[in-house]
Amino acid sequence: MICSKAPGKIILFGEHFVVKGYPGIGVALNTYAKACVEKSDSYFVESKQLGVLYDEKSGIGKNTNIHALINEIKKLGCEKRFRAVIDSSIFISSGMGSSAAVSVALTHALLRLCEKDPSKEIVSKLAFEAEKIIHKRPSGIDNTLAAYGGMIYYRAGEFKRVDFTWPDKYSILVVNTGVERNTGVVVKDVLDLYERRSSILQHIYSASEKLVEEALSLLRSGDMESLGELMNISQGLLYTINVSCPKCEEIIWLLRSHGALGAKLTGAGRGGVIISLFRSEDIPRITTALERIGLRYLIAQPDLHGVSET
Ligand code: MEV
Repeated sequence: MICSKAPGKIILFGEHFVVKGYPGIGVALNTYAKACVEKSDSYFVESKQLGVLYDEKSGIGKNTNIHALINEIKKLGCEKRFRAVIDSSIFISSGMGSSAAVSVALTHALLRLCEKDPSKEIVSKLAFEAEKIIHKRPSGIDNTLAAYGGMIYYRAGEFKRVDFTWPDKYSILVVNTGVERNTGVVVKDVLDLYERRSSILQHIYSASEKLVEEALSLLRSGDMESLGELMNISQGLLYTINVSCPKCEEIIWLLRSHGALGAKLTGAGRGGVIISLFRSEDIPRITTALERIGLRYLIAQPDLHGVSET
């Protein structure tokens, strides 16, 4: 089989504030969705975690991102029917870009199967089309980070790569709250709050902008200890706009009491995953505590390469 993998991502700073044109920073993580493909007599896509995602014969998966991808790939002259197996360690429906990583890895593998050039640009573009099926108005950050890896500063639909220094002795610990939420509802609640309280909230939005600018300079110099402090301030701003949740706060305070330099929600909030920054030496103590209470987690560092063969 031909296999490709693509990274998941987190938003480090600026979620929600980006919706009103303020800046945000996202980073790809070295946790991956892997797609393996081979020629077959009908289209069939199966996930090791979720079961059958698409089956041409039974009609499973019509009008999904996979269906959209197949159509996009055909437009490039890649018409081979295939069987694909997806294996992903990215938390699903949690703001980590898992669907985009699957789309990017699958597109990359299929273009290779068809002996076409799997350029990052094309793979990202096709995955974006597929993302439109899942998320009504995707920002494009997920497919961009899954395809290119690294870190991105984004503002009002424009993306810029961030050159950054990540000292080896620091890790990101991602903890799954297990709390589901609807991103559209959370985004709308925040926009409604902004309408009602704009004279107050504009200061919170400006504070987030200032925070993102400072975070950029800390990321460039690799000052992780100060970056952690900014993550905590960012969480304070997100709490203020009412996108935290009791379970989020419980986990954030557990992480902080076990040595997190910073801990915050990421993405839509009110559930999903919590991200935290740790000195790698402090990780074993916290993971023991997380296991004791049955919380799922992953330990990661930034991915610098994006989609690749595997
Ligand atoms: C959701 O993952 C991130 C939000 O900022 C919404 C968006 O940027 O579209 C909450």
